[in-house]
Amino acid sequence: MNSAIIVGIGAALPSKCVKNSELPRELNTSDEWIFQRTGIKQRYLATEMETTASLATEAAKNALLHAQISAQEVDLIIVATATGDYIFPATATLVQRDLKITQGAAFDVGAVCSGFIFALDVADSFIKSGKSQCALVIGAETFSRILDWSDRSTCVLFGDGAGAVVLKSWADQNYGIRSCKIYSDGKFADHLMTSGGVSTNREVGFVKMQGREVFRYAVEKFQESLEELLKDNSLKIEDIDLLVPHQANSRIINKLIEISGIDEKKVLITVEKHANTSAASIPLALNEVKDDIFLMKNVVLLSMGAGFTWGSALINFDYRGNK
Ligand code: ACO
Repeated sequence: MNSAIIVGIGAALPSKCVKNSELPRELNTSDEWIFQRTGIKQRYLATEMETTASLATEAAKNALLHAQISAQEVDLIIVATATGDYIFPATATLVQRDLKITQGAAFDVGAVCSGFIFALDVADSFIKSGKSQCALVIGAETFSRILDWSDRSTCVLFGDGAGAVVLKSWADQNYGIRSCKIYSDGKFADHLMTSGGVSTNREVGFVKMQGREVFRYAVEKFQESLEELLKDNSLKIEDIDLLVPHQANSRIINKLIEISGIDEKKVLITVEKHANTSAASIPLALNEVKDDIFLMKNVVLLSMGAGFTWGSALINFDYRGNK
């Protein structure tokens, strides 16, 4: 059985960056409140011309360029998103069209903030089973379109953007995705959801969140899945080269650092730059370290999102076998 290795990383951000101090005055919020409670300093917000598909396509192009792979090699495109351009067709098919790819399959995965790890797990399975040789896994969101811009308790938390990775089939199983696990528990569905939907009230709705509950479960699920990943792979916390958690809130990440005992220098935090970009947050964070990550053997990804959904991945990026 072959393994799936990551050979390229790319990202795309909307052209408009909004700092905390530039948020509408009517929100009655402050840079101090937002930064202290969340670690967020700014977010990128899509303009009218920018959509989830356009950001996803740009991120995919950048990832292919980074991998030095032609779009024509790609036989699978998975877009993780909760904010697709249309109800249908899938945003992944729009990316496929815009990359002029006419082979293989393209579809979306909906697991909200855990979407990237869910999509990675699906692509990993396709590659391991031999159904795909080269896959694009993209996390892309325009959450700004489903925020209630009069609700300061939610609208300050999110941003827009896209990140993508290129996966290739590789003969040596010691490299690439070593393990990937995904979970959900629908009894928590109402803790974080939109107030509308096609089949309920025919509306898109806005993000509604029970912030404190989400905070508590995020810490719990991060820690649970980290412990399981370490046990399954016979690793100690010191063996991790880099931990890339979903970027929702730096206080959630700091709590994980405290409980797990991981060296904080090994934990990537990018939420101050992008805010919470849901499914895009992990690949956007990976893009920030793409010059160094291909020397790392034990990179751990952790996610948690609405549903609740959560997941983990252990990746050996060093497929070139650097000493
Ligand atoms: N600016 C100023 N004041 C605010 C703001 C704001 N943007 N938002 C809320 N407040 C006020 C509230 O009105 C309240 O005022 P009151 O005491 O006069 O009633 C006060 O701040 C405290 O409100 P809480 O909601 O209790 O604030 P809390 O300390 O719980 O922080 C937060 C809220 C930051 C959302 C926190 O619950 C949290 O971090 N939750 C985690 C959720 C998260 O990050 N979700 C992201 C999506 S989920 C995911 O990706 C996993």
